[in-house]
Amino acid sequence: MCFTFLIYQKFVALFNINFHIFFCFVLSSVGLNMDPDLNLENGETKDALHSYEGAVVILDAGAQYGKVIDRRVRELFVQSEILPLETPAFAIREQGFRAIIISGGPNSVYAEDAPWFDPAIFTIGKPVLGICYGMQMMNKVFGGTVHRKSVREDGVFSIGIDNSCSLFRGLQKEEMVLLTHGDSVDKVADGFKVVAQSGNIIAGIANEQKKLYGTQFHPEVDLTEGGMDMLRNFLFEIAGCTSNFTVQNRQLACVRDICEKVDKSKVLVLLSGGVDSTVCTALLNKALNQDQVIAVHIDNGFMRKRESQSVEEALTKLGIKLKVVNAAHTFYNGTTTLPISEEDRTPRKRISKTLNMTTNPEEKRKIIGDTFVKVANEVLGEMNLKPEEVYLAQGTLRPDLIESASHLASGKAEVIKTHHNDTELIRKLRDEGKVIEPLKDFHKDEVRALGRELGLPEEIVSRHPFPGPGLAIRVICADEPYICKDFAETNNILKIITDFSASVKKPHVLLQRVKSCISDEEEEKLMHITSLHSLNAFLLPIKTVGVQGDSRSYSYVCGVTSKEDPRWDPLMFLARLIPRICHSINRVVYVFGPHVKEPPTDITPTFLTTGVLSTLRQADYVAHSILRESGYSGKISQMPVILVPLHFDRDPLQKQPSCRRSVVIRTFITSDFMTGIAATPDKHIPEEVVLKMVDEIKKIPGISRVMYDLTSKPPGTTEWE
Ligand SMILES: *[C@@H]1O[C@H](CO)[C@@H](O)[C@H](O)[C@H]1NC(C)=O
Ligand SMILES: *[C@@H]1O[C@H](CO)[C@@H](O)[C@H](O)[C@H]1NC(C)=O
Ligand SMILES: *[C@@H]1O[C@H](CO)[C@@H](O)[C@H](O)[C@H]1NC(C)=O
Ligand SMILES: *[C@@H]1O[C@H](CO)[C@@H](O)[C@H](O)[C@H]1NC(C)=O
Repeated sequence: MCFTFLIYQKFVALFNINFHIFFCFVLSSVGLNMDPDLNLENGETKDALHSYEGAVVILDAGAQYGKVIDRRVRELFVQSEILPLETPAFAIREQGFRAIIISGGPNSVYAEDAPWFDPAIFTIGKPVLGICYGMQMMNKVFGGTVHRKSVREDGVFSIGIDNSCSLFRGLQKEEMVLLTHGDSVDKVADGFKVVAQSGNIIAGIANEQKKLYGTQFHPEVDLTEGGMDMLRNFLFEIAGCTSNFTVQNRQLACVRDICEKVDKSKVLVLLSGGVDSTVCTALLNKALNQDQVIAVHIDNGFMRKRESQSVEEALTKLGIKLKVVNAAHTFYNGTTTLPISEEDRTPRKRISKTLNMTTNPEEKRKIIGDTFVKVANEVLGEMNLKPEEVYLAQGTLRPDLIESASHLASGKAEVIKTHHNDTELIRKLRDEGKVIEPLKDFHKDEVRALGRELGLPEEIVSRHPFPGPGLAIRVICADEPYICKDFAETNNILKIITDFSASVKKPHVLLQRVKSCISDEEEEKLMHITSLHSLNAFLLPIKTVGVQGDSRSYSYVCGVTSKEDPRWDPLMFLARLIPRICHSINRVVYVFGPHVKEPPTDITPTFLTTGVLSTLRQADYVAHSILRESGYSGKISQMPVILVPLHFDRDPLQKQPSCRRSVVIRTFITSDFMTGIAATPDKHIPEEVVLKMVDEIKKIPGISRVMYDLTSKPPGTTEWE
């Protein structure tokens, strides 16, 4: 279904066909059955794949949150499917969906180009939960109005809710929720009542009789603490769904699908070493004969310590033979072709420097992608596989497909993560449709559960996600400090913030700017914190990636130190406040060790060389071993360990050159990977575990200081690059 959805969106994008007409055309020409892979003669298969009895349809209004809703619903073992917002009501009814959830979206319901939807979705008797944009649609259809706000209300807020409403049953009268929007409901539609409010902003409406509910906030994200309870209320109490979409049932269906499709052919799978491709391989092994599965792992030199070996060992135990290709030096020495300059649109190209002399993060990714293609071409060429005899299996997950589909849908050409480029054989297989994606209906946590069922060791299935370019994007490379013209002024603002209790006594022009960004309550808290603790905050001259508003940027990191031992709650508070006041700051880190009086303003030249990588590999190994031994590994979703080119504690008079580097520990807690928080020591993990990591990492030769990333997402992404 999802695959079909992609194809059909691609069509729409290519031919610029009116979405609605095209959808009806598809529906009428193939009679609601939109899957080209489907064997129409086989009534059984058709029913198995297309029965949405009891399932929930998520109408996607183009937001990044659509897939998170999908995941949440499945966490409650209820089947869900994502369809375009334009899906007509009759199609939803005919396919047997039991309830409708409408996601948020970037549009305004009054915009000229607001996406079309079928107003009948609200009147076919199905319960509807409209989130954000979905709530505004609902309100408009029933005669309410929406008010365009000049200020966006983004962030976590405490709102008042009416917990006699079925959607909010069992919740508190005050709940913390994530609100992200620019529009808000003005006049509430007839027959609806306000069931949630934040100041004078209407945060929830309901018509209990018609089972229609709208929330201006996002119940699906972690930041909305009671969100899961709301979804549970909607699915089970309001819509009457059943929890029967289990991993065991789905594994049987996957195995059957693979056997049917592949039959006696061979299947090629390129293992990255991550959970997805490993589980994919184990699943193929379960469905097919041993000699049908050809598994290849290309070691790019950016793997973690012992990572390649452990995957090889685990697969060998399951009876799978893995071909491991060591290509580290080819990657370090890799190059790519680049445009002569950013603006230059002519076909003239230049050859990049080798990867181990490149600092630009996008260039690093492109070289790694291209080198992968080159190496894979050589390896597959040597294996002499005939395109007519093989299938290609990929560990693509449901979120990957949803992501590319919604990018096609929204027509946004933002730089998405560079997907690795195809090799000749792979392109050929793709062109001929000889690709299988056995995990395409699974989310990450569902893949882990499947991996356990298939007998993979816990060490592998519970492994934290690791990016394709691996350690390469966890070394912040630099050949000069990053200092823009706002550097000095931003540092002044940081001084005012950390000296707030003193600053208010001798007003400065910048003080007003700080005050205008924070609430009275926050001002009071800041006064309190800065009168109790001696803190110092300063910019570090390096760049890291962050998301503020809707755009990604590479910008500053702010370091914070304290004279006393760290107090984590105040630090977390500052980390939330600082990027909101200074938009050029993407992250805030706590710097362990003595109070920093002279923060570095230069850097240690750093590239992806073997020495630098082995330093990071050791730091990563030490930190993860300590986390695993502590038993808190499962509490943290991901823990990137990053090497940054900063050398602290040099006497400015002696002009000692910058030659050491520092390490950042980025703990990240999320269950949706769209939003998340840094773990607070002593709240999420014991402080002594963190301090032990710091002590052990400091022992690695060439390390200056260890820092702890305090930033939530947004504004800081999970990875630093
Ligand atoms: C799951 O439960 C629903 C009722 O909510 C039912 O319609 C559906 O057929 C069930 N699915 C399976 C696979 O048992
Ligand atoms: C880059 O990598 C290649 C291959 O490992 C190596 O021969 C070369 O010396 C490296 N260059 C630097 C600057 O480290
Ligand atoms: C690095 O690549 C260049 C060509 O780009 C090649 O001449 C050289 O031999 C390579 N060095 C190593 C160590 O692979
Ligand atoms: C993918 O690789 C081909 C050559 O194999 C190249 O022409 C194309 O530009 C590459 N695409 C991207 C997005 O890098």
